Amino acid sequence: MFPDNFLWGGATAANQCEGGYNEGNRGLANVDVIPHGKDRFPVMLGKMKMLELDDTHYYPALNGIDFYHHYKEDLALMAEMGFKTFRMSIAWTRIFPNGDEEKPNEEGLQFYEDVFKECKKYGIEPLVTITHFDCPIHLIKKYGGWKNYKLVEFYKKLVTVLFTRYKGLVHYWLTFNEINMILHLPFMGAGLVFEKGEDEETSKYLSAHHELIASAWATKIGHEIDEENKIGCMMAAGDFYPYCCKPEDVWEAKMKDRENMMFIDVQARGYYPNYAKKKFERMGLNLPLSKEDEMVMKENTVDFISFSYYSSRCATTLEDVNNSVGNAFKGAKNPYLKASEWGWQIDPLGLRITMNTLYDRYQKPLFIVENGLGAKDEIIDGKIEDDYRIEYLREHIKEMKKAVEEDGVELWGYTPWGCIDLVSASTGEMSKRYGMIYVDLDDEGKGSFKRYKKKSFDWYKKVIETNGEEL
Ligand code: BG6
Repeated sequence: MFPDNFLWGGATAANQCEGGYNEGNRGLANVDVIPHGKDRFPVMLGKMKMLELDDTHYYPALNGIDFYHHYKEDLALMAEMGFKTFRMSIAWTRIFPNGDEEKPNEEGLQFYEDVFKECKKYGIEPLVTITHFDCPIHLIKKYGGWKNYKLVEFYKKLVTVLFTRYKGLVHYWLTFNEINMILHLPFMGAGLVFEKGEDEETSKYLSAHHELIASAWATKIGHEIDEENKIGCMMAAGDFYPYCCKPEDVWEAKMKDRENMMFIDVQARGYYPNYAKKKFERMGLNLPLSKEDEMVMKENTVDFISFSYYSSRCATTLEDVNNSVGNAFKGAKNPYLKASEWGWQIDPLGLRITMNTLYDRYQKPLFIVENGLGAKDEIIDGKIEDDYRIEYLREHIKEMKKAVEEDGVELWGYTPWGCIDLVSASTGEMSKRYGMIYVDLDDEGKGSFKRYKKKSFDWYKKVIETNGEEL
C-alpha cells in the first residue's frame, strides 16, 4: 500500500507549456530562442550562436500550450483526476525580466499567486521547480550565463522573492531541474554558448558548480523563511547497466552513473565526493569556493531527492556495439527492451532498480517527478484510446509499488510527465505527447488549443482514487 498522504499528480514546466511570452512584462529566456527543426540540437548544445527571434525559425516555447490563459481550465481537469499535487515551474523572466533588476515584476508574481490559489481551491499542493532549464537572455548576454558566479547572487534574490511571496501557498520546491543535463545540453541547461577554442568541459562543470552553490543557498533561504518548506534536488535518472558482464563494461556503467549522480551527491551530502575531486584534479580544474559558500553547502543539504525516469541505459566498451543510441544521453541499445517511437527504451523494472540505487545511496525520501511515454495520439470518432500509455504507466507504477512495499523505499509522490500534452524538450514537437489530457496543437503551433480527455484520464483518476490499488 502507498501511504495515505501519497502525492499523486502530474508534472509540467513553464518553458514547455506556459506561453504568453510577451505578456505581463515578461522578458526573454534561453528556452524561448530554441527553435523547432534542424537547428534545435546545435542551439541546445551551445554550438551555435544564440538566435534572436527571427521569421525563419519556429520557436515552440513562445506559446507553449498557452497554460498562461488556460490554467483555470487545466487545473479543473487535474482536480477532476484527483491530483494531490501539481508540478510546475516558474519562468524566471516573469519575475525578473532581465534577471538582474532591483525590483521584481509584480505582474509575474501575481500570475503565479493566482495559479497557486487556484491549486489551493482544489486542495492541490503545488510542487514548484524554481528553474526548469530557463535562464534570462540578458544574463547570458551580459554575464555568460551560469559560467559566471554573479548568477548565484541573482538566483538568491529570485528565491528570496519567491519564498517570501508564496509562503504558506507552496511547501514543495525543487531548486534546479535535471542539474546533470548541463553536461548534455549546456545551452538549455545553463545558458552556455561556447566560444571558439573554449574548454567546454571546464565551462560545464564550473556552471554546474555555481548552480550547486545557488541550490544550497536556496535551501538555506527557503528553510529560514518557512520551516515548513521541503526543498529537493532533481536529476535525470535511470541506472546504467553494463552491456555485458565484461568487467570493463561494469566499470564503464559505474563511471556513467557517477557522472550523473555527482551533482546530487553534493546536494544530498553537502560536499563533492572524492571521485569528483580526483576528476577535477585530472582536468586541472580548480573550482573556486569561498569559505562561506562551502559552509552553506555543507549545512544545507536537500530534504528529498527527486528525479525523472524514462528509461534505463546501457554502457559498453565493446567496439562492435553501437554506443550512441539516444538523444541527450548516449548509450548502447539494450537488446532485451522495447522502445518508444522516439527510441527511448522501456524498462519498468529499471525504475525499481533506480529507486533502490538512490535510496541506498542517500537514505533520503524520494519523489518521482517525471515518468511517462512520449507517443503519437490520434483522435478517432472523438476519442483518444491511448492504451499504450496506460500500459507504460501501469507497469511502472507496479514496480514503484514493489520498491515501496517490498524494498522499503520512502517515496513521497509520483507526478508523471506532461500530464497535459506539452512541447517536447528534446525535439520541440507537440506530436511527442505524454498527457492524459490532449491539446489540439501541431508541430507548427497550429490548432485550436482545445483540451480533450484521453482514455488514460479516467484510468489515472481510478488509480488515484484507489491509491494505486486498481491499476
Ligand atoms: C526531462 C525534462 O528530461 O524529460 C523535461 O525535464 C522533458 O523537460 C522530459 O520534457 C521528456 O523529454 P522530451 O524530450 O520527450 O520532452
